[in-house]
Amino acid sequence: MKNLNSRALKLEHDRLFLLDQQALPHGELWLDATDPAAMIAAIKALKVRGAPLIGVAAALSLACFSQKQTDPAALRSLALQLRQSRPTAVNLMWAIDRLLPLCAEPERLQAEAVAIFEEDQRLCAQMGEMGAELIAEGDHILTHCNSGGLATAGIGTALGVIYTAWAAGKKLHVYVDETRPLLQGARLTAWELSKWGIPYTLICDNMAAMLMRQGAIHKVFLGADRVALNGDFANKIGTYNVAVNAFYHHLPFYPVAPYSTLDFQAADGSAIPIEQRGAEEVRGLVQHTGALSWAPHEAPVYNPAFDVTPVELVTALVTDRGIFKREELQAGVLKQLSPG
Ligand code: MRU
Repeated sequence: MKNLNSRALKLEHDRLFLLDQQALPHGELWLDATDPAAMIAAIKALKVRGAPLIGVAAALSLACFSQKQTDPAALRSLALQLRQSRPTAVNLMWAIDRLLPLCAEPERLQAEAVAIFEEDQRLCAQMGEMGAELIAEGDHILTHCNSGGLATAGIGTALGVIYTAWAAGKKLHVYVDETRPLLQGARLTAWELSKWGIPYTLICDNMAAMLMRQGAIHKVFLGADRVALNGDFANKIGTYNVAVNAFYHHLPFYPVAPYSTLDFQAADGSAIPIEQRGAEEVRGLVQHTGALSWAPHEAPVYNPAFDVTPVELVTALVTDRGIFKREELQAGVLKQLSPG
C-alpha cells in the first residue's frame, strides 16, 4: 500500500503507526499498531480517537492484516472485532461496512482502505471551506473536546473550520473547554491550536456559561460522533450543557460533521448507543504516566462518554455537503442525502 501521513496516523512501508493521544501533549510517542490486537487495544484506550479517525484507523488495520492473512473468514472476524471496539462513533461502522464485502479480495480491500483515508482528508477540507463562512472577523469561539487533526485524517471537523477561517486571515480567538473526564480539550485541542499558532484560552468546563453572559463568547463550533436523521447528535459528554448554555444566551451553536458521521438507521437521538466507561476516569485521572485518584476508591460513579443534543438547540449543522439550518433538519433534509 502507498505511504500515508496525517497528524495522528502514518502508514509507512505497510506498517501502521499511531501518535499516542494518551501521551500528548508532553510526549509525542508513535506506537506501532500494525498488529490488529494493538489497534483494538489503542482504540479502546483512546490512544487513537475521534469519530472519523477511528474509522480510518480500523480500515487501515484491516487492510494491513489482509496483506498477511487472506482467509476471508479470518478477515471478516477481525472486521467485526474492530467494528465493535467502540460503540458511539458511527464512522467506525461506516468504514468497516465499506470493507466487509471485500474480504475475499484483499487487494481491493487495501485500495478501499486507502480511499477512506484520502476521502476523509477531502471531507475535512470541504467542511472547512463551508463552515469558515460562518466565522466573522474578531469572533470568539467556544469549542469542546477535540475535533482537529487528531480526530480525523485531515484538518478536522469543527477545529478544521476554525483553522480554515484563521488561515484565510480572519482574526479570531478560541475558548477551549478542558473536557472532563479525559481532557481532550486541555491536552489535545490546546496542543493543536498551539501548533497552528491560533490564539486560545483554556477554560474549565464549568466556566463557559459565565463567559457567555459576559459577552466573551460569540459562537460555538464542535464536532459530532453520530448524527441522527432528525438532526439530534451525539458528541463528547458536556456538549449538551454547552448547547443549553448557548441557547439561553442566544448564541449560534454549530456542530460540524462529515456525511460519514450520519446514521441513516437512527430516526432520532434516542437510537444512538452511548458508551459507558470506567469509574477510575471520574474518580481521578488516568494518564500514561500513572493514575491519580482524588475520590474515595469505592465512590460509585456514572461515566457516559457522550451525550445527545436535541436538534432544537442546533443553529445549523455544517457538513461536507452543505450547511443545514435547524428548520431544514427538522423538516428531514438529512433523509434526502445518500449514504455513499
Ligand atoms: O472519546 P473521543 O475522544 O473519541 O470523543 C471524540 C469526540 O467526541 C469528538 O468531539 C468527535 O469525535 C467529533 S470530532 C471529529
